[in-house]
This record gives sequence, structure tokens and C-alpha cells, in this order.
Amino acid sequence: MEKNTFYITTPIYYPSDKLHIGHAYCTVATDALARYHRLIGDEVLFLTGTDEHGQKIENKAKEAGVTPQEFVDRIVTGPRGVLELWKLMNISNDRFIRTTDDYHVRSIQRIFRRMYDKGDIYKGKYVGKYCTPCESFWTESQLVDGRCPDCGGPVADAEEEAYFFRASKYASEVRALLLTPGFLEPASRVNEMINNFIDCEGGLQDLCVSRTSFTWGIPVDFDPGHVVYVWLDALFNYVTALGYCNDTWPASDLERFWPGVNIVGKEIVRFHSIYWPAFLMSVGLPLPKKIFGHGWLVIDGGKMSKSKGNVVDPYMLAERYGVDALRFFLLRTFPFGSDGNFSNELLVNTINNDLANDLGNLVSRSTAMVEKYFGGTLPPEQAEGPEDAALIQLAGGLRFRYAGAMDQFAPHRALEEVFRVIQRANKYIDETAPWTLAKDMAANAPRLARVLYNLLEVCRMAGVLLTPFMPQSCERLFAQTGTPDGARTWDSVERWGGMPAGVTVKKGEALFPRIDVKKELAELDALVEEMKKAAAGPAIELEPQSAGQVDFDTFCRSDFRAVKVKACEAVKKSDKLLRFTLDDGTGTDRQILSGIHKFYEPETLVGKTLLAIVNLPPRKMMGLESCGMLISAVHRLDGAEKLNLVILDDAIPAGAKMC
Ligand code: MSP
Repeated sequence: MEKNTFYITTPIYYPSDKLHIGHAYCTVATDALARYHRLIGDEVLFLTGTDEHGQKIENKAKEAGVTPQEFVDRIVTGPRGVLELWKLMNISNDRFIRTTDDYHVRSIQRIFRRMYDKGDIYKGKYVGKYCTPCESFWTESQLVDGRCPDCGGPVADAEEEAYFFRASKYASEVRALLLTPGFLEPASRVNEMINNFIDCEGGLQDLCVSRTSFTWGIPVDFDPGHVVYVWLDALFNYVTALGYCNDTWPASDLERFWPGVNIVGKEIVRFHSIYWPAFLMSVGLPLPKKIFGHGWLVIDGGKMSKSKGNVVDPYMLAERYGVDALRFFLLRTFPFGSDGNFSNELLVNTINNDLANDLGNLVSRSTAMVEKYFGGTLPPEQAEGPEDAALIQLAGGLRFRYAGAMDQFAPHRALEEVFRVIQRANKYIDETAPWTLAKDMAANAPRLARVLYNLLEVCRMAGVLLTPFMPQSCERLFAQTGTPDGARTWDSVERWGGMPAGVTVKKGEALFPRIDVKKELAELDALVEEMKKAAAGPAIELEPQSAGQVDFDTFCRSDFRAVKVKACEAVKKSDKLLRFTLDDGTGTDRQILSGIHKFYEPETLVGKTLLAIVNLPPRKMMGLESCGMLISAVHRLDGAEKLNLVILDDAIPAGAKMC
């Protein structure tokens, strides 16, 4: 049978600064939806990327004293950049588009010309306001208290020769589309769009689609001096990534996957639900299946911003609590269509309550009891009891309710359903009191076996349905509960009873260790203070006059030392991290964590002399402190990332300083 196709996208992010937790929220949600569709058997294409042109990036690059291309390259591909972040967060995108990619640039030039040839783009003069951070044109009457209605920032006067897109021509078609049920969700955003931008005084205004006051954009190839407006360039990414207007790729992906679903933040719903469909109407492409506008993560009710110093770093949280715990927290806590107030306390409490207590305990208690009472393998002779029906009934309908929520783009509701069953299973433990049954095994073994089977069955079902949210932890859950491959599928959770009766468990480490809330919050507060100081600096650390250079004093302060590996082991629950115990010549062991497990087996490194920088501030990763960084050479070979540690001659003693 031919599979359904499902195309889903995130917005493409501006690489004008490091991405923060709000960006991660959107990408993680889209990833969970994409993984859900793969789980149910759809052929999925998941696209994300970066929106690299525009005045904002040009200005930022100027401030940093580098070219715009160098600037975006650092933020996208550099250390702790966008690509690395998505890798860390286990984002399963199939494609990544950069709007500076050659194919996209050529496609946009063709698209612009096509719209011009059709008469939908004409030349004129723009006189009005411009918000550079949002890359948005505004009229005086649209401003709120003289400021940008989206970000609340100041706007500048703009007056320049420009091309305009005849959005007005498509106003009534766009209006009808907005009123089509399911096109723009949540539906509460529909009236806002119609009232503010279509039924407003003067109706839908034509949109300025080229700029002449700066150069960092895609040149309009038939009119030098004009660059394509960054929003036209950006919106079309959803189809250029599928080969639209591309003379070298087949357009089969476009036919196969477009139209798709565009997941976007609430402030860019306007561009996606009004101008994007109008552009598509102009070029004659099908309209998006859905625009879903999610809410924002806010701090103390307000926006995260670098100037307030309250930008939350997803790297720090993922390294501290694990990627899955962070992914889960983001989607479990905040209803997807509404704003959510982020706080460290909420994060730590959610991990403790839902993951450590409810899910973690269920798995560890169930597997521990199977080991304790049955030596790890359940006997197939099992006896039903009066407590079973309520649990089985609730769990039996779980897949249906979960799918309903996921199909409505409500991951928080899907998680709520799963946790309702998990909590019910914990209550079932109290009701059935396995420890009492175990007192008389001769009489109760079949009943006890059934109770434990039921618990493992809930763990299994939860594992399948939580996989889109916490892929790595669910693998561990399956390993511990002995869930065979065939019982990890979507079909296997259609109804109760997919776990083999004689299952063998393998008790392991706690899936989610409990966090000491008080201690953790104090440590986080201290970290946030440290980060506030660091955040006062520019997005990328370069001296304005000497791009790419560090001064000699700074270089001399870097303490590079030869270190000898005394011990090296994989960090539990981490795919990437290795924990090194090093002799650094001081007589006290130094611990360094390094995310290089993919490239080295720990035992092969023992006894080697490596190069480390030892005066970086200590950092915590997966609850362990790392004091320094091992130096390695990173390069790409045949498209794959390669890494080699710098290994020194064994004759160099530990502690020798490099200078
Ligand atoms: N480049 C445009 C999008 C072009 S799509 C064709 C853009 N980029 S952005 O980097 O400023 O924002 C990207 C997305 O991140 C937006 O959907 C925005 O809503 C989202 N978020 C930015 N801050 C956010 C929060 N604090 N919370 C949730 N999402 C947030 O706009």
C-alpha cells in the first residue's frame, strides 16, 4: 500500500544571534510531530533551516567586523551553532536549508522574475516605517505607541525605490482561505488576521518586496541595486527545498510532498497566513495544508531578550538534564497554541514529578519486582483479578486519544493522556499490593505474574507513544522492560496485550534520576548570573577592527597543557560523552568531559598524552563537572564529520605547558 506523505516545516531561523530555548521549543515540537507521523507509517519530510539575508544580519556582521557570510557561517556551522544545537537536541530533520545555498538563490531569482512577468510585481517607491529586528514594513497607523506591533521595538523611517507585490489583488482569495476551517490554527488567530490586515481601513496593502538601501540579499537579476525582500526570499524556502524553480533537481519532491504544514510562532502568522498564500497564488502553486501558530515561551510574563539578560540557553539545559528531559518538559508543560511562562523551578519539578516519580518509578518498580519475585522472567501462567479491568480499559483506548491529540497539533494533550495512564498504573500497584501477594507465592504466583505483566504492558505502551518525544529514553525503557522490536510499533499499541506473556526484564539505571530541587535552583541561579555577564557580549566574539584575530595577551592567557589519560569511560545515559580522568602534572586528578564517543572507544585512549586547555571555567554536563577541554582537529570527509584528538608524543610529561 502506498504510504501517506507528510511534509512539515519549522520557520527558518535568523542566524543573527545564538538560538535560545524559544527557538528550540518550536523545533522540538515540530520534531515530535514529524516523529509521530513516521511512527504511524507516513512518509515524512521534515525541513528546517536558516534565514540568512536581510538588513539585521548585515548590521550584525558589520558590528562584528566580518562579512555577512562569515557571520552566518559561524552561527550556523560554528561551535555551539544552529546545526550543533539540532544535533544535540536529536532533531530528525530530513533537510536543512540555508537561504544562502546556491540552489535557493537561483530559485528565488526565477520566482521573482516569474511574478514580475505575470504583472504581480511592479516598481514604485516605499515611504513608511521599517522594523529591522522583525524585517517588517509598517504604516504609521499600524504602529502601537509609535513602536513595532510585533516586537515592541523602535521603527525607523524608510524611503527607497522598491518593487511591490500586488497583495491587494489576492485579498478576497486570502480572506476566504483564512475562513477555511483548519487552514489557520489555532482558529482564534483567524479574526485577528482578517480584522487587522484585510478588513482594515484601505484593505490589504501591496507589499514591498525589494530593498535598495543595503546589499545583503538575493540580487534581483534584472535590476541591479535591488535585493529581494528577505520575507519573500524566506517564505519560498518551503518549496525551493523541494526543488521548485530549480533547473538541476527533479521536481518530484515538490509533487510528492507539497502542500505541507508550516509550524510557526504567533508573531509570524501574518506573513504565513496572508502573504505566503498570496505568493503561492501568484506562482500557481497549491496552498499550505495548514499554518499552525504556536505560542511563545516567556519569562516572568515578558519576552526573553539579550538586553534583559534573561535568554535561556538550550545547550546548558540539555547538557544539565539530558536532551530527552528537556524535550519532554517543553512539550508537556506548555499548551502548544498558547504562551507559556518558562521557569527553572517548573523545569526541575516537571522532571521530578513526571519523569522521575511517575514514569521512572513505574519502570523501575515493575522491573525490580519481576526480578525479585520471578528471577527476571514472568511465568506465562497468569491470573486475572478484579483490579485489572479499570486499568486495561483506560490503557486500551490510549492510542486513539493520543492520536486525536497529535492530529490536532496538541502534543501537550497527547502527553497528558499518556501520563494519565502511567499515574493510573502507579495507583494499580497500590491497589494490588504485589509485595503482599508475594508473601504466599505458592498461592499467588499466577496473580502476581499478571499484575506485573499489566505494569510492563503499560510501560511498553507508554514507551511507544513517548518515543516521538523522548526517543533515546524510550529505547532504554524498552531494553529494561524487555519489549521486543515487534512490540514497539504503532500497530502494537492499538490494543492491550502486545507484551509477550513470558517477558524477560533487565533492570537498569534509573531512567530519570531525581533532582535535589533546592540545590539545583541555587546552582542554576548562579549559572544564569554568569551567563548574563557573558551575554552582554556580541553574538560572535570578534574584534571589530581585526576580524578573526585575538590579541596576544588573550592568547597568552590560554593555558594549554599536556595531559595523560589515567582513565576514560562512557558517561551513563549519554550517547556522546566520555569522562576522562587526567594527570595534568599538578598531583590532583583533573576531570574533563568530551562529546567524542562517536569517534573513540574509551579504553583505546587510556595512557595517551593529549592536549587540553585547562583554564576554562568549569562546566556541568549530565550532572558531572568538566574542568577544561581536550583539543581535537575536526574536519569533513565525504560529507561526514571526522574528529581526531591531538595526541602528543609520550615523551612529553603531563603538565608541560604549550607556548
Ligand atoms: N526568519 C523568520 C522566519 C522566516 S520563516 C519563512 C523569523 N526568524 S526568528 O529567528 O526570529 O524566529 C523564528 C521562530 O522562532 C519564530 O516562529 C518565532 O516565533 C520563534 N520564537 C522566537 N522566540 C520565541 C519564544 N520565546 N518562544 C517561542 N518561539 C519563539 O522570524
